[in-house]
Amino acid sequence: MLNALGQPQSLLLLGGSSEIGLATARRLVRERTRRVHLAGRPSAALTAAADELTALGADVQVHAFDAADTDTHEEVIGKVFAEGDIDLVLLAFGVLGDQLHDEREPMAAVAVARVNYLGGVSSALASAQALRRQGHGALVVLSSVAGERARRDNFIYGSTKAGLDALAQGLGDSLRGSGARVMVVRPGFVRGRMTQGMPEAPLATTPQAVADAILTGLRRGSGTVWVPGALRFVMSGLRHLPRPVFRRLSAR
Ligand SMILES: NC(=O)c1ccc[n+]([C@@H]2O[C@H](COP(=O)([O-])OP(=O)(O)OC[C@H]3O[C@@H](n4cnc5c(N)ncnc54)[C@H](OP(=O)(O)O)[C@@H]3O)[C@@H](O)[C@H]2O)c1
Repeated sequence: MLNALGQPQSLLLLGGSSEIGLATARRLVRERTRRVHLAGRPSAALTAAADELTALGADVQVHAFDAADTDTHEEVIGKVFAEGDIDLVLLAFGVLGDQLHDEREPMAAVAVARVNYLGGVSSALASAQALRRQGHGALVVLSSVAGERARRDNFIYGSTKAGLDALAQGLGDSLRGSGARVMVVRPGFVRGRMTQGMPEAPLATTPQAVADAILTGLRRGSGTVWVPGALRFVMSGLRHLPRPVFRRLSAR
């Protein structure tokens, strides 16, 4: 249950080795969170993440979770909730893909969609059901500014985030009155593993800044969080630009 300060006591991180997910988990554990479930593909990075959070004082359990294996999601998430209430589910898995390669290889594009969108559908719905049953808790979904308007250089990834974002918004509406809620997080360019080697976009941010924004958004009860916050205003302008103008502006 949330403590008197409204801080989550328990976390399920879907995408247990995500830089943004871990930056958030570290902040939460330093503040108050005691039980952490890391769900991800078994790897040295996942084990290291569990060790680090344990050293910070959390009771950590690791669960094998493949976002592409949608048939298993209800079972994995069900097992986590069976261990005790979960105050916060953070959906942080995702792949960027390789746009030009994936355009030439449709099945590679499908693999990106399978993880980001289909994996998001099954795990977000299973999490929302469990939160509804519990009657409290938040599902935080890492969407992206890339889902707001399609860009030539990342429209496959962007389309998967647009779908995930729409799903999360609707889920949030469906949970109203249940005690549980959804918060959609739309970061812009985040410096880190996913964007390594790419030219930096304007208003670039960091995993730590996204973590801060997630915690602030949770405290405020926000439905949508942009990171950095200025992106909300930038995108409200860009959203309405005629397509040819947007195309020229977003060309790199
Ligand atoms: N970085 C950015 O610029 C940016 C901007 C906006 C939104 N986002 C979104 O924020 C989220 C977190 O990104 P990040 O920056 O933390 O990137 P990251 O460090 O690369 O984390 C991505 C995570 O997704 C996991 N993942 C990938 N495929 C998976 C699969 N089939 N099954 C289970 N887990 C899988 C990875 O696990 P493995 O270790 O097993 O690969 C890793 O934990 C993603 O949804 C991303 O799309 C990122």
